[in-house]
Amino acid sequence: MREKLDLLDQRRQQSEEGGGPQRVKAQHDKGKLSARERLDALLDEGSFVELDRFVTHRSTDFGLETQRPYGDGVVTGFGRIDGRLVYVFSQDFTVFGGSLSETHAEKICKVLDLAVRNGAPMIGLNDSGGARIQEGVVSLGGYAEIFLRNTMASGVVPQISAILGPCAGGAVYSPAITDFVFMARGTSYMFVTGPNVVKTVTHEDVTMEQLGGAETHGAISGVSHFTCASELELLDGIRRLMRYIPSNNVDAPPRGKGEDPRHRRDESLRDIVPDSPNKPYDMHEVLRRVIDDAEFLEVQADYAQNIICGFAHLGGFSVGIVANQPAMLAGVLDIEASTKAARFIRFCDAFNVPIVTFEDVPGFLPGLAQEHGGIIRHGAKLLYAYCEATVPKLTVITRKAYGGAYDVMSSKHIRGDYNVAWPTAEIAVMGPKGAVEILFRKEIAESPDPAAATEWRVREYTEKFANPYVAAARGYVDDIIDPADTRPRLIEALESLRGKRDSNPPKKHGNIPL
Ligand code: HXC
Repeated sequence: MREKLDLLDQRRQQSEEGGGPQRVKAQHDKGKLSARERLDALLDEGSFVELDRFVTHRSTDFGLETQRPYGDGVVTGFGRIDGRLVYVFSQDFTVFGGSLSETHAEKICKVLDLAVRNGAPMIGLNDSGGARIQEGVVSLGGYAEIFLRNTMASGVVPQISAILGPCAGGAVYSPAITDFVFMARGTSYMFVTGPNVVKTVTHEDVTMEQLGGAETHGAISGVSHFTCASELELLDGIRRLMRYIPSNNVDAPPRGKGEDPRHRRDESLRDIVPDSPNKPYDMHEVLRRVIDDAEFLEVQADYAQNIICGFAHLGGFSVGIVANQPAMLAGVLDIEASTKAARFIRFCDAFNVPIVTFEDVPGFLPGLAQEHGGIIRHGAKLLYAYCEATVPKLTVITRKAYGGAYDVMSSKHIRGDYNVAWPTAEIAVMGPKGAVEILFRKEIAESPDPAAATEWRVREYTEKFANPYVAAARGYVDDIIDPADTRPRLIEALESLRGKRDSNPPKKHGNIPL
């Protein structure tokens, strides 16, 4: 027995050596952690249980038959985050560049299947050069098996992807199907193919950073959701995200542990909205004062900043917040803002996270670029996402709710559960000036004093429509509240909606305008 145990020890040790000390050193020199170090940082101490550590590849071509490292370039298993079960894989760039072979894929598929069967989140730490070139179509088949499982798991268990190296080909399409993508500045890259191939195909000279660095995907493409300063910050970010999301589509999200009093009012909220309707203010200031302990986990913070999406706790309830940002492009809804918020709303709805909307929106952005880009199709995604969502939906109109944007932003008509307005709200088809210019163009042109005529008509329109009382008279908002009471009102509403039951008609699936 002793000998057998020694052999086991020896092989277990071998399985942890990755691609050897030199390659591990190269990994460290690039400011990257090893696959196992990453799991140590991600999971509760001592909680990781490894599966398939003795798996080896089956290739016999290109000299691979002489190199069969244990584990085949990916560490898989399960562990805990704040005591909650999660399944994980962590690709080891020191073994064949973390590339995906048939067996490497089988290991990932095994944990994906277990995550779904056991209702636990799946976290993938990606550091891979894509399909293992020596294996050809067999490795492509492996990727397809993963894509299928990612798709089947979508909306059943949360799937989180960390990009921790130069990820190419299949190594980016699996993360793209998952719910959240995390990237670290300076070491994470995602591209369909790297700068060398780009040069050949399109003759563009681009750096890795420009083509697919963390800033590129965080601010320009919108492929990633969280941009972090380092790998350690990124792994901690995943732990933070877990505080707001449930383990699966049947469970409730975890309760917040903060001690912010439920009935806390905040009178400074009365002074945030400026008197002039055209003056911007920072919606973050509103959010900070309303949510528990001002702790907000913003999603896609650098992308489409005219809309804010993120997680918070409110009276301990986990909520997804969607808020127009008047400080950026006046909070207008354009293509990017619409798709960003639509995807976030669909995540919240799939995973039982109530949606709280803060609204100050002048409408959809008009113009050639937006129309040619398909603002109708993309704006419709946001509308569709809000309409189909059956989780509790709460809305606070702080100022403008104009036109189609009034309908879209979780209005009562599309099953908003608790909609309130501040006294500063203006709920109308459009702003007073625009409305008067259309309705009274002729009258103003013919008037001896056009400026005075305009002013009088604007005042008339403002008194009539640029307020929340017309909407309140029809029950389109449930109440007009003192901004200072926003937090307690929202928490009472969330409490009342704990048992909410609503569903959509049975169907294979809807046809969201993609
Ligand atoms: C086999 C690979 C590999 C791969 C890297 N390696 N990628 N081995 N298959 N796909 C190996 C290298 O040979 C090297 O081995 C080690 O990993 C480290 O690679 P380097 O090139 O030295 O590292 P670096 O300079 O950091 O460059 C990393 C890289 C580059 C940008 C990822 O290796 C690269 O471009 N790889 C190919 C990317 C790619 O086109 N993959 C196929 C995509 S197609 P040694 O022994 O020297 O340490 C695909 C199909 C799926 O994935 C499609 C789904 C839709």
